Amino acid sequence: MLIRTPPPWQLRDRDTTPEAAWQNRRELMKALALLPIVAGCEKTVGGLAELQPVGPVPERFEWTLPPVTRDPAWSEVPAGRTLTHEINAASYNNFYEFTTEKDQVWRMAGSLKVRPWTVEVGGACLKPRTFDLEEILTTMPLEERIYRFRCVEAWSMVVPWTGLPLKALLAAVEPTGSAKYVRMVTLGDRKQFPGIAASGWYPWPYHEALTMQEAMNPLAMLAVGIYGHALPNQHGAPIRLVVPWKYGFKNIKSIVRIELTEEQPPTFWNKLVPDEYDFYGNVRPDVPHPRWSQAVERVIPTGERIPTLPWNGYGDQVASMYP
Ligand code: MTE
Repeated sequence: MLIRTPPPWQLRDRDTTPEAAWQNRRELMKALALLPIVAGCEKTVGGLAELQPVGPVPERFEWTLPPVTRDPAWSEVPAGRTLTHEINAASYNNFYEFTTEKDQVWRMAGSLKVRPWTVEVGGACLKPRTFDLEEILTTMPLEERIYRFRCVEAWSMVVPWTGLPLKALLAAVEPTGSAKYVRMVTLGDRKQFPGIAASGWYPWPYHEALTMQEAMNPLAMLAVGIYGHALPNQHGAPIRLVVPWKYGFKNIKSIVRIELTEEQPPTFWNKLVPDEYDFYGNVRPDVPHPRWSQAVERVIPTGERIPTLPWNGYGDQVASMYP
């Protein structure tokens, strides 16, 4: 018998909001501008998305970032775009280990304990070792970069990340010539992640991978911060991947293990729904998802619809990797 796995990125009514509803929402936003900081949270009302004011998103920063420089190459907001407000980025998240409800992740994320934290790096390398997060924060080159972020569900943001080039961490373990892929794994603790037990059919822990060439690309970042402070749990504290030319699902959160491999490792969503999510997950507006177009994206929180750029606008840096 063929059992169909529930589609992970199902577009629901609230993800396909008519323009008029967003216009109404803008009016509401204007009103909200007068209030103290509130979180933008979508509620489905008659199938339409409405922005609801909720309390301030609680801050749960267990790490203090050292002073970081802004990388001049990535310190500008991309032309024609606006930096996403921190509250919006922090209250609209995909982190299935907590819940599949994007607007609820931040409420539940307090159960994750991010200090102390270690990242084990091994496999095809000469100097496998375990890094304490403290060591990463104090010895690795940290910088801030503003990147576009595009989810496979066709929504997007523009976010300032603080982090280190992934290649800096890999260099420290001295990969061997046989290392062809980089596999990354999220913490799989059921006690800290209520969503793991609730979605027992998923192949936990969350795992992702890049080719070695992708991992060594200067754009690939291990983020430890966002908006100038340590990552809040809902964004994948204390350390997560940021690869802006790929769909969001490649950007694995709360990493505890990195492994250099000779063979292409299986990845979470590709394993679950191979005909919908390929290994690469590159942003390609010309290739529709089997159930929706990828040509246009919905900007969070305004709902403005804009064309999606090939490679999410990073073609100059990455297209040559894909002949
Ligand atoms: N990493 C883990 N461990 N679990 C997840 O559910 N979701 C992915 C990615 N990384 C996910 C994950 C998806 S689908 C997206 S769009 C981004 O995280 C969302 O990142 P953000 O919440 O920081 O915007």
